[in-house]
Parts: sequence; C-alpha cells; structure tokens
Amino acid sequence: MDFYIDTANIDDIKKYNALGIVDGVTTNPSLIAKEGVSLEKRIKEIAEVVDGPISTEVLATDYKEMIEEARKYVTWHKNIVVKIPMTVDGMKALKILAKEGIKVNITLIFSASQALIAAKNGATYVSPFVGRLDDISEDGMGLINEIITIYSNYNFDTKVIVASVRHPRHVVDSAIMGADIATVPPAILDKLFKHPLTDKGVKAFLSDWEKVKNLQ
Ligand code: E4P
Repeated sequence: MDFYIDTANIDDIKKYNALGIVDGVTTNPSLIAKEGVSLEKRIKEIAEVVDGPISTEVLATDYKEMIEEARKYVTWHKNIVVKIPMTVDGMKALKILAKEGIKVNITLIFSASQALIAAKNGATYVSPFVGRLDDISEDGMGLINEIITIYSNYNFDTKVIVASVRHPRHVVDSAIMGADIATVPPAILDKLFKHPLTDKGVKAFLSDWEKVKNLQ
C-alpha cells in the first residue's frame, strides 16, 4: 500500500519524505489556505521535494471552469493529479479530462454508488473520506470494503485513496482490506512509528548495557 501525506505544509513534507515513507501528496483548499502561500507556488515547491502524484484541487464548481483549471494545473508539473469533487459537474469534467489523459482524483466520496460512477467515468483515483463518515456514526472503513469489492468485481483500474484518516487503525485496516493508498496527516504518520513497548525495550537494553559496558 502506498502512503501519501495529506498536507500542504512544506516542512512536514520534507521531514516525512526524508524518512522514505511518502509516495505522493494530497492537498485540498483548506490545507492550502493554512499555508499563506499561493496554490501554484506551493504545488511547485512540493513537486521539487516529492517524486510522486500530487493531488491539486479545483476551486470551480462549473464543469467548464473545472476543465480550464485542470488543464492549467497539469502544465505546472508532470506529477499533478487534478482533484475534482464528486458532483454532477465534477463527473462531466471527469469524462472530458479522462479522454485527454489527465489523471483525476475524485474527492469527497461518501458512498459506494459515488465511487462506482466515478470509476465508470474514468477516475484514476477516488478519495473516500472515512473519518468524516465515522464522525457522523457511519462506517468509514465499511465503505472502503464495499468500494474495493465493487472495483474487483468489474476490474476497474481506479485506485482507492483512503482519506480523512484519523488514527493508525484506519491505516492498518486499509492495508488489510487491500486499499491502494492511504493519505495520512503528519500527526498520524508519527503515530504509525510508535509503540510504548519499543521505547521501553530500547531503554531497558541500554540500561542493562550500561551496567556491563566496562567489563574486559
Ligand atoms: C483528502 O484528500 C483530504 O485532503 C483529507 O483527507 C480530508 O481530511 P479531513 O476530513 O481530516 O479534513
């Protein structure tokens, strides 16, 4: 399973990329807005750091304007994936962009029927938001299971990016289910490395070694 980092913060992207665990990046307008820098500048900075797909979201709601934005974004770098929301206009834009060979990540997926339509229209990726479903007492990971089953039934090439990840268990369950990608915020990436017994074990080994290190 690939790991994408779900942030537009360039310092975090550099930090986790150096750990060898970043296969791509997802951004959205809220994440870019936190950074106080233009979309184009930040996306180009990210592309200099990470050699993998970088999802960049359209701001238009009308399909013709979405298409214009998408065509502009892909001139910025070869790794740009255009993120388009799961709306009726989004689907019209997807159909046209897919024919042009532009890679599209359909975002804000909350049901299996949405994921099915996006795949039929040629999405390269879909982003089901598991955390936001869990927040309203629905079953985020249950949705991932449904989408993987449907895509496998019909041999769709569309890749599943598990998004809105809130904790390490979302990441582990994604891997167990065979999701293609999990996009993970920096704070959750940190937690993936950690186990209290590992820290305790390192401390105990060093403390035991301290007692005998001067023996001849
Ligand atoms: C995915 O591509 C989105 O950027 C992101 O995962 C949304 O997560 P949130 O629900 O924590 O905002």
